[in-house]
Amino acid sequence: MGDDHLWWQREIIYQIYPRSFMDRNGDGIGDLPGLIDRLDHLVWLGVGAVWLSPIYPSPMADFGYDVADFTGIHPIFGTLGDFDRLIEETHARGLKLILDLVPNHSSDQHPWFIESRSSRSNARRDWYIWRDPARNGGPPNNWLSVFGGSGWQWDEATGQYYYHAFLKEQPDLNWRNPKVRDAMHDAMRFWLDRGVDGFRVDVIWHLIKDDRWRDNPLNPGFAPGMSPYNRLLPVYTADRPEVLDVVAGLRRVVDAYDERVLIGEIYLPIERLVAYYGEDLEGAHLPFNFQLILSAWDAQDIAALIREYEAALPPGGWPNWVLGNHDNHRIASRVGPAQARVAAMLLLTLRGTPTMYYGDELGMPDVPIPPELVQDPYEKNVPGIGVGRDPARTPMPWNAARNGGFTTGKPWLPLGDDVAQINVESERHDPTSILSLNRALIALRQSDPALTCGGYAQVEPHGPVLTYLREHGGRRLLIALNLTSGPATVRLPAGTGKVLLSTHLDRGGSAEGDALELRADEGVIVELTGT
Ligand code: GLC
Ligand code: CA
Repeated sequence: MGDDHLWWQREIIYQIYPRSFMDRNGDGIGDLPGLIDRLDHLVWLGVGAVWLSPIYPSPMADFGYDVADFTGIHPIFGTLGDFDRLIEETHARGLKLILDLVPNHSSDQHPWFIESRSSRSNARRDWYIWRDPARNGGPPNNWLSVFGGSGWQWDEATGQYYYHAFLKEQPDLNWRNPKVRDAMHDAMRFWLDRGVDGFRVDVIWHLIKDDRWRDNPLNPGFAPGMSPYNRLLPVYTADRPEVLDVVAGLRRVVDAYDERVLIGEIYLPIERLVAYYGEDLEGAHLPFNFQLILSAWDAQDIAALIREYEAALPPGGWPNWVLGNHDNHRIASRVGPAQARVAAMLLLTLRGTPTMYYGDELGMPDVPIPPELVQDPYEKNVPGIGVGRDPARTPMPWNAARNGGFTTGKPWLPLGDDVAQINVESERHDPTSILSLNRALIALRQSDPALTCGGYAQVEPHGPVLTYLREHGGRRLLIALNLTSGPATVRLPAGTGKVLLSTHLDRGGSAEGDALELRADEGVIVELTGT
């Protein structure tokens, strides 16, 4: 089945936020030994690859996205020995392991930056982005930090500003400097040699900035309530043409090894996103497609974006879809618990590699975080407009015990007050739970070539119902997703069919005439049997 496909085309990627997966030593923070203890959950669920958010040494100003050593493990998560055991245990279970690579910036505590800021003549000065003040003494230009305020930080000791696209504790590396490229490529090889199966590259579209330091233009679409970063259009700070060479350089490192994968984090409109495959597919294997996170939950809109995405893919470019991650509200909160089941069916029946976020298989919602417990620096810098990411980063509930069985200590973020119902153990015992649905969907996807590698026909909205056909070797499946909470009817294109799976998990095997009745919030996968 689909034997000419590579593992990263066939398998489902499961993102783990390591601080919140499983705590073994009781300090309230997830760790590698805990994660290893829970790998069997992933095998049971049926996903094939694990992507870990950063586990490197870090002052944790941005919870690990501020890296102080690109080739180590933060003691809070364990040791390199624990990491080697993690690789061994994932591979022993037939799972792949993908690390987060954060090449755009380091921590301000990284030895490279400490040297760089020590003097203007330091050999590593040019590893970061230093500029003289503007004539009035202010920042060199108007570039903003994604997390609020200017992107420039004044350094008193050497009388220059350095640029940081994120926190001031995350100075941007200078990717125009070949020494920076070499050093980061070496760090990649360190992990590839240890056996990791690939990287998800953090903010890959940010790596190169304008070499003429031009001001970013005003964003005409800026409106109150938006994050202040959106006041400008980041045309000179991100998605610069030269970035594609840098991406190709990362790809060459990965390609020197067997079947490893390069994934890029990219928030750009579809026509720019697909440029990151590279003109001759020399870029990222999978430029992450976040359209389902950004789109309205509407049959017309989603049908249009599936078509637009498919039409924009370069020849041979493999599609992918992401439903949730550690930077966005959880799907169950974005669309509600009933539609979260429909969303699961959508993610797992679209063409291309799906990426699932830990806890979404349980229908975990955002957990409201009271102000005194806020951890996320973005929320602290830009409070009160809903940009905080803590609600989607709360501990995984494993059972109905205290703290969901995640920790014996005090969890670093609170668990929801619904853990008695929403947890792995309870949902495993409930044959109609969203966890059972996800497992059934995964089993069907992985065993049915029409879903794993089939093409599309007829992606269409029918009123509130999104429909598409997946076909492979004469086998045709209709997916019909009712995106609303009222009943709806669609006509079966081939006259008759057999329901393979419903999001309600109660009508598998039922035969249908030429009209298919969908209940509120119901999605179905129908095998078309007529001609
Ligand atoms: C990416 C990460 C996010 C982080 C930022 C800075 O967007 O996903 O969590 O804060 O980069 O590294
Ligand atoms: Ca721990």
